[in-house]
Amino acid sequence: MRDITFDNITETVIQAYSGAQDARSGEILALLIQRLHDFVREANLTPLEWEAAMGILARAAASTDGERNEFILLSDLLGVSALVDLLDGQQDQKASITTLMGPFYVPETPVLENGSDLTGDNDGERIVVYGQIRDSADKPLSGAQIEVWQNAPSGLYAVQDPSQPEHNLRGTLHADENGNYAFATAKPMSYKVPEDGAGGELVRAGGRHCWRPAHIHIMVTAEGCKRHISQIFDLNDPYIDEDAVFGVRGPLAVPYDQQPGEEELARFANIQRPFNIASVDFVLAPA
Ligand code: BEZ
Ligand code: FE
Repeated sequence: MRDITFDNITETVIQAYSGAQDARSGEILALLIQRLHDFVREANLTPLEWEAAMGILARAAASTDGERNEFILLSDLLGVSALVDLLDGQQDQKASITTLMGPFYVPETPVLENGSDLTGDNDGERIVVYGQIRDSADKPLSGAQIEVWQNAPSGLYAVQDPSQPEHNLRGTLHADENGNYAFATAKPMSYKVPEDGAGGELVRAGGRHCWRPAHIHIMVTAEGCKRHISQIFDLNDPYIDEDAVFGVRGPLAVPYDQQPGEEELARFANIQRPFNIASVDFVLAPA
């Protein structure tokens, strides 16, 4: 390996990693090296530009800890997280489209009755979200577990804001015997992903912004099915077509300002009025 040149360095490095312990690691490493070297050549990357890139990674590491992962945010902001999720969904053509989980999920939130109202003391318009959970053979998934979380009218999630009650605007419910679920909640807000770290630097360098359109996170778990991670977006949000993390999917964007019909007013008679309605079904892929 003494005669390394501009022309042979890529092949030399790939060869140096050819003893990977498993075939998949070997395949990924070889592709990564090839593409990184191609990128450096094609971009004509200078030493100063390389140093700037290393600086971004160092600052990402400095703001990463048990609570915050700036590398995941960089992946989100570059559309890599969304691409990994879309690729995974390619195998499940009969299932509903999924999207990103984001950093604000909390496991084991309080179990609430199906049809509960999460609104509590939060301001904002009330919205009833309902639909059916089915498998890809259209069988209703009775008892499916639905975990819900979202931000408050302040734009912050409970995990970001100690002044909110511990489980504000989040909870766990279970679908009824026909796979139907429903809950009421306060309308979520558009908000910015953290912009005080390397992610913010990247976004500003690219002439973008950090806003995400308003959304409610939903994760559905049912026996025999793949865990289903989704978000329900406000179709009329000003950022619906410019989500900072590329998480919006057409079928998951619904208007949050629909008035209930007679049937919905009767079905959700126990929910405080006035409320709007949003309906989304979820079809889960097999495990
Ligand atoms: C979110 O949905 O809350 C989120 C997703 C990706 C990055 C930051 C936030
Ligand atoms: Fe979110």
